[in-house]
Amino acid sequence: MKRLSLFLTVSLIAVTVFSQNAIRVGDDGKSWTIATRSTAYQLSIVNDEVRMVSYGNKRLMENAGRPLGAEIPVRGGFVNSTPLLEAVFPDGVRDIETVYQSYEIINADGYQTLKIIQCDKFYPWEVISFIKVLPEYDLIEKWVEIRNTGKKGGIKVENLLSGSIFLPKDAYELTHYQGVWGFEFTPYTTKLTPGVKTIQVKDFKSYGSSSFLVRPEGENDPYCGKVWFGSIKYSGNWRLDFDKSFNGTLQVVGGMNFWDQDLNLKPGSSFTTPSIVFGYTEKGTEGVTHCLTSYIREKLLPSSHRDKIRPVLYNSWYATTFNVNEEHQLALAKVAKEIGVEMFVIDDGWFKGRVNDKAGLGDWTVDTNKFPNGLQPMIEKINALGLDFGIWIEPEMVNPNSDLYRAHPDWVFHFPNRQRHEGRNQLILNLAREDVYQYLYQSFHKLLKENNIKFIKWDMNKQMTDPGFPSAPADEQRAVRIRYMENLYRLNETLRKEFPEVWFENCSSGGGRIDMAMNSRYDFNWASDNTDPVERIFIQDSYLTLFPANTMISWVTHEDWHRQHHPLEFKFDVCMAGVLGVGYDITKWTEAEKDVAKEKIARYKEIRKTVQTGTPYRLVSPHENNRSVLQFVNKEQSESIVFVYNLGEYPNNSFSENRRSALVQLRGLQPEAKYTFEGLEGTYSGDYLMKTGVEIPLRGAFKSRIFKIKVP
Ligand code: GLA
Repeated sequence: MKRLSLFLTVSLIAVTVFSQNAIRVGDDGKSWTIATRSTAYQLSIVNDEVRMVSYGNKRLMENAGRPLGAEIPVRGGFVNSTPLLEAVFPDGVRDIETVYQSYEIINADGYQTLKIIQCDKFYPWEVISFIKVLPEYDLIEKWVEIRNTGKKGGIKVENLLSGSIFLPKDAYELTHYQGVWGFEFTPYTTKLTPGVKTIQVKDFKSYGSSSFLVRPEGENDPYCGKVWFGSIKYSGNWRLDFDKSFNGTLQVVGGMNFWDQDLNLKPGSSFTTPSIVFGYTEKGTEGVTHCLTSYIREKLLPSSHRDKIRPVLYNSWYATTFNVNEEHQLALAKVAKEIGVEMFVIDDGWFKGRVNDKAGLGDWTVDTNKFPNGLQPMIEKINALGLDFGIWIEPEMVNPNSDLYRAHPDWVFHFPNRQRHEGRNQLILNLAREDVYQYLYQSFHKLLKENNIKFIKWDMNKQMTDPGFPSAPADEQRAVRIRYMENLYRLNETLRKEFPEVWFENCSSGGGRIDMAMNSRYDFNWASDNTDPVERIFIQDSYLTLFPANTMISWVTHEDWHRQHHPLEFKFDVCMAGVLGVGYDITKWTEAEKDVAKEKIARYKEIRKTVQTGTPYRLVSPHENNRSVLQFVNKEQSESIVFVYNLGEYPNNSFSENRRSALVQLRGLQPEAKYTFEGLEGTYSGDYLMKTGVEIPLRGAFKSRIFKIKVP
């Protein structure tokens, strides 16, 4: 016993020391081991080139063997991987030859970060690569900076991704998430055969995020097994290449998509890419979920609101669409308050000329036909009810039928002599222009200054088309998308700084722009306009694999895509697995419906801390079963909330003899602790609930139930 505790003490000390020194430099000063809690990433200098040696389980790294590939694969020399960097020098040479120069360990946001400088053998430029270590999340974050250190001549950058890793020889499968409006986050798993599998966005619409998982072929245990995974922190066009060599190694490389894009790096200037997050776990998909969601929840979300419990929302979109007015909004707010809502949000339709989706975008003043007294008097009445007030905006867009477009037809992206492609009757403002930025900043600064707004739903409904900026210098024309994204982030960050109390929701025709970069600036995501409860169960299962529950807003609405007339109780139970919202025309609700809502919202308030801040577990996936079971466990492991949704009469895991469902094993509890299980008699040890499991007392199709399991 004594020896065991001595061993434990020693190994604990070793772990602590290791995480404080997440980056270890080899004795030769030319190799590095970057360690997280359980992983290690190794690099070394071979013939003046920076090489990636290995990435995986920390305990198996002592003798990592030969390097797998270049840390920064470039276009130049032998091209046996996908280049991360492609550039043309002033004299037309387009072959890159970099050599290692120096390294430094710096601090980035409180985390040790390895900075490696490489220089060209001949041309005056530097390629600086960064690897930040997030030890407690088993993640590393990579990005690249390039500098033109010369005195004359621009360097044309034709491709610059954020980071690359190589995986050892094996057969692999890729899982990624794709979709369209209404069908966000559909998971796909595909074998990676020799060649390159690219997933990318070319029109700013990404209906499943850039998150990906790579596993050895055939391994699909949800709780164990190797997974390399990652996600790009960028909200514009992105690209990920999975380059499988014939000899078996796999390169994963990703970042900003340079399709139809280039960058002119003037003398003395530099450019820094967005970052790509990579991770490795041996705990299967569940390990991926825990690394990504806890990182986003604990470190990435905007710090002003990060630790706040999310309010219950009302949103008027499905109740009214564009037909909003003060009287009806106040009537909705009154019922919203009565049933327990805390934040009342008016969606589209409130601004000048916005009678339908053909007009108004760009004119961000209130429509006095609908709100003759302006917004603030109405907001005051809503506040007097005890509700906070929020509002919908779509800053990046303009309708041709608007005062803004009539005054500034050149403020949209366009090419001379070419059609301006409208989508939903709107065009994209050229946010690469400073005057457009200033107009938007002034408009929303004024809106927030003059009205007591506590919540912004920020939408973006059209795909990027016609990315022309005719009056820009020729060598900047193809960098417009980069400048657009810089100003989009700047607009959000400036408004957040000036109005620190305001919550921000990210929406893009449903979930068309969900990623880590948005989640470092916006508190919530609108995962989908598909609010049919059954459809939503699928979207939520995938979403919650990658993003934390306190970022996922879900509304209970009358949407019924398959005419199933699901009960209100079922709809509430679905939406309670994230941030609960209501979107019905609740002025039409009967007393009985209001009673259901009151009871459900009260219940949500009682469980939301564990749902919003707890560790998520996906016990049964609807993608593999006709049932979905989600579980959240609080930090202390003293309370757990289990959501069960039956999608068929007999869940697939039913016994054939009596059709009663098989036992469901919980996760994440304390083995020794005794728990009560709502709806069941007696107490159960955590060990029993996790190993033996319980038969969930819920039968029948499209039935749902929420259970609280707790230490009494
Ligand atoms: C988009 C959003 C919806 C709603 C409408 C308003 O479609 O995804 O949630 O806000 O715009 O026009």
